[in-house]
Amino acid sequence: MKLIPFALSMATLASSAWVQAEPLVIAHRGASGYLPEHTLEAKALAYGMKPDFIEQDVVMTKDDQLVVLHDHYLDRVTDVAERFPDRARGDGRYYAIDFTLAEIKSLRVTEGFNIDEKGNKTAGFPNRFPLWKSDFTVPTLAEEIELIQGLNKTLGYDIGIYPEIKAPWFHRHEGKDISKAVLKMLKEYGYDSQESNVYLQCFDPIELKRINDELLPAMNMDLKLVQLIAYTDWNETMVYDGGQAQPYSYDWMFEANGMQQVATYADGIGPWKPMLVDDASTKENIIIKPLMKAAKASGLIVHPYTFRAEPDRIAPYADSFEGMLDVFYNTVKVDGLFTDFPDKAVTFLHQK
Ligand code: G3P
Ligand code: CA
Repeated sequence: MKLIPFALSMATLASSAWVQAEPLVIAHRGASGYLPEHTLEAKALAYGMKPDFIEQDVVMTKDDQLVVLHDHYLDRVTDVAERFPDRARGDGRYYAIDFTLAEIKSLRVTEGFNIDEKGNKTAGFPNRFPLWKSDFTVPTLAEEIELIQGLNKTLGYDIGIYPEIKAPWFHRHEGKDISKAVLKMLKEYGYDSQESNVYLQCFDPIELKRINDELLPAMNMDLKLVQLIAYTDWNETMVYDGGQAQPYSYDWMFEANGMQQVATYADGIGPWKPMLVDDASTKENIIIKPLMKAAKASGLIVHPYTFRAEPDRIAPYADSFEGMLDVFYNTVKVDGLFTDFPDKAVTFLHQK
């Protein structure tokens, strides 16, 4: 929660310009480069790679349970279409919010897939874990927190959690207050202060501001908040206007005082990595975009997403995954980054 006097904020700003803590590794959806995203198995494997944080995307079920899923629908990573063929909405999607936890628990989880015109499923990442092999399920947020806290106890590390409240605008429209439920659960598990080993992230600025201004004070909590940034045309955050959903405009965040505004309610930003480094950069000339400087000048920490090691995911200005990490950790000087390959980022930082 941000509520800092002006003098203190200037001191924080000045010190953050000079002191850089060790940058973080955030296991994006677990060790999702190796096992199906957001399964407990992917989280246990990530834990063994010793990142600083493990990420949870959180959505709500019909019976108000919190589950860890990237999408607020189930059809990209489960067999829901085969198991419950008549439960899709008009857009053809199977929404988690239309299913009870028991129903969701009965689904098989696999690597993310696409369906072609002939109905064939093809893996989003063909060289990752094979489709429909082994036996994975959707975890609840409580199960995942208990896994990480349990491993913190048995192995003696202190790995944090990095939950993302998914599509609060959608949950609200469906009559559910997902933010309140997530905060309640975080508090139950002991995450309630700035010192707690958690970052809470959200793409929806209206909701993050509500969390900072209303929910955290009302619940006697104070967490580190991260504003995720999208481009408006991704339709990542929507606003209901007379029953009609319109894309929320992120344009103000890229304007001169955008980051100053974010800093009034958040502690950091989670930008898409091309928002920080121009894809027109070359190895010899890395073009850092104004957003980075604006964020640091406003005292915000910066955790870009998503670093993937597949050859077609290496940025044009780097010749390897490690080269890309080098640009962001050592040239741009981000405070941390989200990666599907936490082992590689941990090794990179240790070698440095
Ligand atoms: O939350 C950081 C990063 O995960 C944002 O992208 O779509 O993978 O949730 P997404
Ligand atoms: Ca996320």
